[in-house]
Amino acid sequence: MRSGVCLYPGSFDPVTLGHMDIIRRAAKVFEKVYVGVLINPEKKGSFTNEERVDLLKRACADLSNVEIVSFTGLTAELCRKLDIRVLVRGLRGGDDLTSEMRMAKINAQLLPGLETVFLGASSGMEAVSSSLVREIASFGGDISALVPKEICQEIQNRFKRS
Ligand code: PNS
Repeated sequence: MRSGVCLYPGSFDPVTLGHMDIIRRAAKVFEKVYVGVLINPEKKGSFTNEERVDLLKRACADLSNVEIVSFTGLTAELCRKLDIRVLVRGLRGGDDLTSEMRMAKINAQLLPGLETVFLGASSGMEAVSSSLVREIASFGGDISALVPKEICQEIQNRFKRS
């Protein structure tokens, strides 16, 4: 049984199998999952905002209850706008816990009643991160175990040195 709506926010620069693990599991628990791609005008990522959204859309194409949205500003404001009261965040291990708990508290202060639900990374996903993908790809390493197969080549190409 699935219930309610949630938002899974992040930078997704680029989306990884770690993110997909969380999205797929959230999609089983919630009726509707919004994936919020933060557009940060001050931070130039490896992928443009449009590219990050497009990669996510392709990776989530088989998930009918998942919608990709981009946003600027506060995550809590997006929740207010979409009338969402549950955030989902992934925890890869103890290192994530302190910062994620802090973020959850700040978000609850910004929008009283906003709860953060943590999903622990599935086995094998604990070390996967966008920064690791960028680093390995930039040295020409194999990222196929780290990113969705539909978008692997495109990500690899981005980092190809000429
Ligand atoms: O890619 P990440 O580091 O997993 O995502 C972090 C993100 C985008 C969820 C967080 O930085 C965020 O919510 N930024 C929007 C600004 C905001 O709401 N700040 C207050 C809460 S920390």
